[in-house]
Amino acid sequence: MNPFIYDRPLPPDQLVGREAELALLLDLALGGQSARVAAPRRYGKTTLLGALADTAWNSHEMIPALVDFSRVTSIDDVVERLERAYEHGFERGRLRTVWRSLRRRGGASAQLGVPGLATVTGAVTPRADAQSLARLHDVLDLPRQVHARTGQRCLVILDEFQDLLTAGDELDGVLRSHLQHHVGIASYVFAGSQPSLMRSLFGDRRRPLFEQARSVALGPLPAGELAEWIDARLAAAGSEAAREHVDELAAVTAGHPQRAMLVAHFLYQDGGDEGLAPALAAAVREAADALDQAWRSFTQVQRRVLGAVAAGHTRLLTDAALAYTRHGKSTQRQARRMLLAEGHLHEREDGTVAFSDPFFPLWLA
Ligand SMILES: Nc1ncnc2c1ncn2[C@@H]1O[C@H](COP(=O)(O)OP(=O)(O)O)[C@@H](O)[C@H]1O
Ligand SMILES: [Mg+2]
Repeated sequence: MNPFIYDRPLPPDQLVGREAELALLLDLALGGQSARVAAPRRYGKTTLLGALADTAWNSHEMIPALVDFSRVTSIDDVVERLERAYEHGFERGRLRTVWRSLRRRGGASAQLGVPGLATVTGAVTPRADAQSLARLHDVLDLPRQVHARTGQRCLVILDEFQDLLTAGDELDGVLRSHLQHHVGIASYVFAGSQPSLMRSLFGDRRRPLFEQARSVALGPLPAGELAEWIDARLAAAGSEAAREHVDELAAVTAGHPQRAMLVAHFLYQDGGDEGLAPALAAAVREAADALDQAWRSFTQVQRRVLGAVAAGHTRLLTDAALAYTRHGKSTQRQARRMLLAEGHLHEREDGTVAFSDPFFPLWLA
């Protein structure tokens, strides 16, 4: 079996690094504060959230509800995902009987309709019928019911949170109407793959969740630890030739979690006799469809700017960089800002930019 998983979240006991992020998220959760994690796709959010849910229960007896809102489209679907997440959390805590009894009552109150509901949600989502909204309110109220019943607190973790708005563009307001009553009862973690959207949800004073969650950054994995981890697995698999290339692998993939695992996967498969290059090429090929899709979503101006970065113009407003793209300064500045806001590029401390996905320049080349 290939020891390197790259296409699904890692089991909680397999993480490289992330101790600091995990500790901070736990601290906030225990302190009753909400947090948000915004990072590009494949940067290890779900993996980290799984570990957080585990630790929250194992070490602190907080009941975790880990929900993935990826591609959710209807309120009924939102409700079902929330229900499943709580159910799973209760099973983990061997609280099945509590869960069953809560749901019996929940079903009943949803059928009767929750008083005052229309005022919060009446205007919100005309597509949704009252029954679905009643169920949503009921499931969002679960932390309160759990706390009243068992004295335990919930940790509600909402992954790919921005997709919730597809099911109803004011559902963040509906959520807020519950969250504000959950002080000392539940903590929330919001994670999302579109940094700019996450910023506008939490950083725009017109939105209901404005300043409701502290931002926790998710950076690259530390190169040293990453190399050690990969090396240990190659050693255990007896893949001696491949071990020679581990440091180079960590350097080229620049701490990008999924890209590192993808290259390691192919390095293991290939054996490493011909160096790292064949594995790297195979990994980039594997990612090519997604890269192509991203490329097509860019404007011409953005493409030229990305081309300039790939050609080594990491300072985009220099004369040389402007000569390369043949853009005016303000056009270039605006494209740079957009690419940073969307998380395609990131800015280093010295003001230079780099690709968030180390495969992008390789693929472009
Ligand atoms: N802490 C980590 N240590 C090692 N590999 C990781 C880590 N986090 C993520 N990965 C790798 O990245 C891949 C994508 O991670 P995932 O958590 O699904 O990212 P996201 O939810 O941000 O899209 C995983 O399959 C795994 O190969
Ligand atoms: Mg994910």
